[in-house]
Amino acid sequence: MALKIAVLSQKGGTGKTTAVRHLTEAFREAGLRVLAVDLDPQGNLSDYFDIDPEADPTIGDVLGGRATMADAVHDDVVPANLSLAEAELTLAGKMGRELTLRKALAGVDADYDVIFVDCPPALGLLTVNALVAADYALLSSEAQYFALQGVEQALEVIELARDSLNPSLVWLGVLFNIADMRTVHSREAFESLKEHVGDKLLEHSVRQSIAYAESAERAVSIYEHRPDLGADYLRVAEELLRRLELGEARRRVAALLPDAA
Ligand SMILES: Nc1ncnc2c1ncn2[C@@H]1O[C@H](COP(=O)(O)OP(=O)(O)O)[C@@H](O)[C@H]1O
Ligand SMILES: [Mg+2]
Repeated sequence: MALKIAVLSQKGGTGKTTAVRHLTEAFREAGLRVLAVDLDPQGNLSDYFDIDPEADPTIGDVLGGRATMADAVHDDVVPANLSLAEAELTLAGKMGRELTLRKALAGVDADYDVIFVDCPPALGLLTVNALVAADYALLSSEAQYFALQGVEQALEVIELARDSLNPSLVWLGVLFNIADMRTVHSREAFESLKEHVGDKLLEHSVRQSIAYAESAERAVSIYEHRPDLGADYLRVAEELLRRLELGEARRRVAALLPDAA
């Protein structure tokens, strides 16, 4: 059984896709079999993984009932493109529309240890599908004063999923992303979030750097593009593996850190 982790936020630009890109790779480095599912019609995750834009079928075909999940796996990524927007509209009118992704993932469950789902920039039907399919929800939050509001809205949707179709959904944590901890603004936003969500806030945040946009543009990871910055996501990966109680994988990631003995 794969552990399924939905990465979400109430809007775009909070670093979800960048987080899924790098957590997937860190977990793979730790020896885990990881599938990354792009659930955003913009297909940013697919591009970041350098999946052929012509790859076919995609997640849109899976949710539209035209392909199985296994058929849509390309290099351990299930890519998305604009056909997903159409599939979402079609899905909206169907019975069991919130369960479609969960059912489709069952077909590849045995092939992976972890499945990450990169949610679209809205708390709509696709994100609900991700939350119904997931064991864990990880929130990505930008390092801003109004971060708290976004986190609260995303939490309400997690609650909804729990109250209705997925009572065992666990809130894994909040990642404080795109942070400039040299500024008072970021540090205050971190403290304010910490006051509200307590230990759910991950101890390690991801620093803001233009290098992420460059790395996305070139479709290479930050580990390759700027190994010095890559340590941020390795620390976050280590923290998540600890929360997931995957001790052996956690130790392997810890050994990759620059300060490892
Ligand atoms: N740590 C970071 N520092 C600076 N820019 C970042 C960082 N992480 C992501 N970005 C950039 O911010 C934008 C939004 O990130 P993305 O991961 O696509 O967010 P989302 O999936 O939530 O919309 C992208 O241009 C991305 O390259
Ligand atoms: Mg995204």
